[in-house]
Amino acid sequence: MNAAIETILDRRSIRKYRPDPIEGEKLHSILQAAVYAPSARNRQPWHFVVVQDRERLEEIVQVHPYSTMLRQAPCAIIVCGDTEISQQFWTADCAAATQNILLAAKALGLGTCWCGVESTAVSPKLAALLKLPQQVQPYSLIALGYPDEEKERPVRELEERVHYNQW
Ligand SMILES: Cc1cc2nc3c(=O)[nH]c(=O)nc-3n(C[C@H](O)[C@H](O)[C@H](O)COP(=O)(O)O)c2cc1C
Repeated sequence: MNAAIETILDRRSIRKYRPDPIEGEKLHSILQAAVYAPSARNRQPWHFVVVQDRERLEEIVQVHPYSTMLRQAPCAIIVCGDTEISQQFWTADCAAATQNILLAAKALGLGTCWCGVESTAVSPKLAALLKLPQQVQPYSLIALGYPDEEKERPVRELEERVHYNQW
């Protein structure tokens, strides 16, 4: 099977991490992959807050109850959108950037977990914690690090989800 397709199919949400730090070169490649995502009208409204400070990671866990894997993971990336640059599509653009990060990390041997932020009660708390400008909103929180668990590729429905020419 094609290597890119295998990366997509074998990416899993990782919730157990080794403490090993992430090489700077790999982190750069992952962030570069993010800004090569598609965006509506090519507005690229995204910003990325990279958190590696242990105390700050713990503070994030305090405001995001489903991000406890950050107690092990050495890094978090918060994908944010500038709502003034793209009022209509910043969430879709940030979703595309988020998925690029997950796939680039997988391709480099790293694990990730996408934790939802946008449209949740976590959003204003995380924005305050990270001192985001008023027009910038957090979209997703991504745990990043070397995985300490292996996950099988699950079986996913395909045939019944695909409709040709009409439903
Ligand atoms: C929008 C969104 C929000 C999510 N939020 C969380 C979260 O807060 N905490 C978490 O552990 N996983 C979260 N996940 C990961 C999902 O639980 C996971 O993608 C799903 O169970 C499928 O597993 P897989 O990613 O291994 O294919 C989220 C995923 C998405 C796309």
